[in-house]
Amino acid sequence: MHQVQADYRMPRAEQPVDFTERGAAGRLARGIEEHGFAVATLAGAAEPSAALTVLSTALRLGDPYVPALYRYAETRDYAASYTDIRSNPNDRHPGFSTTAGQAWHVDGLLDEIGRIKTTILYCVRAAHRGGDTLLFNSVAAFAELRAQDPAAARTLLSPTVLNRRSTIPAIEVSATGPAFSVDETGNLITRYTDNETCTWNPDAGPPGTLARALAFLRAACDDPRYRLALRLAPGQALVFRNDRLAHGRQPYEDRPGARRHLVRALFANAPAASG
Ligand SMILES: [Fe+2]
Repeated sequence: MHQVQADYRMPRAEQPVDFTERGAAGRLARGIEEHGFAVATLAGAAEPSAALTVLSTALRLGDPYVPALYRYAETRDYAASYTDIRSNPNDRHPGFSTTAGQAWHVDGLLDEIGRIKTTILYCVRAAHRGGDTLLFNSVAAFAELRAQDPAAARTLLSPTVLNRRSTIPAIEVSATGPAFSVDETGNLITRYTDNETCTWNPDAGPPGTLARALAFLRAACDDPRYRLALRLAPGQALVFRNDRLAHGRQPYEDRPGARRHLVRALFANAPAASG
């Protein structure tokens, strides 16, 4: 089965894979192909960077990818291979450093559709309250839209339908492209995002089609077939297809001296089974 047929009501998708077991990498890669994501439980209290390196090597992800947005002088502070995500009043990044919720998005707002295939979020410390990571199987929802309302779906394939712009105060840059596309192997890929970075172009398709498409997706992202909330425990890593689903997070509360802490790594490659 492929992610387009996945049903997130089936609890199997959420079952963590014990990374110390034989064949764990293969099970993770197959789970990611089937559901768009998998959770790995890593051993002991390894350094986050060591844990991420072991996991990404086992999944044959290659070197971490630095998004196009972070290759400017003004944003170079965010260009590390592994990015700390935790509240920090001294940092002005709108996503990494606040305890606010995050609406649906894909990582890499300037990168072309399909470029960043994999995101890993490694949990060092969970939030005191809230802070679940949210997943939306947007390619599966798109496939349903395409069956029900082909004209609306076609508008989301237009290369002028979705502009995303940086909301980092230091820099004004943006990129335009389709919200969904079909890659060279015939699989759906996406940069569907629905947050403050987006400007939608209603002229990208026949009148009314964009509004119908967005209404469909905004309903689908609350449909339990397509939406999942995951609470990561310390030492767990969520690996997901950034080119096949959208993600977000619930707002959270920290306890003093014990901030929620995730470490993120991005990869241009998709996970490959190695055993
Ligand atoms: Fe993200």
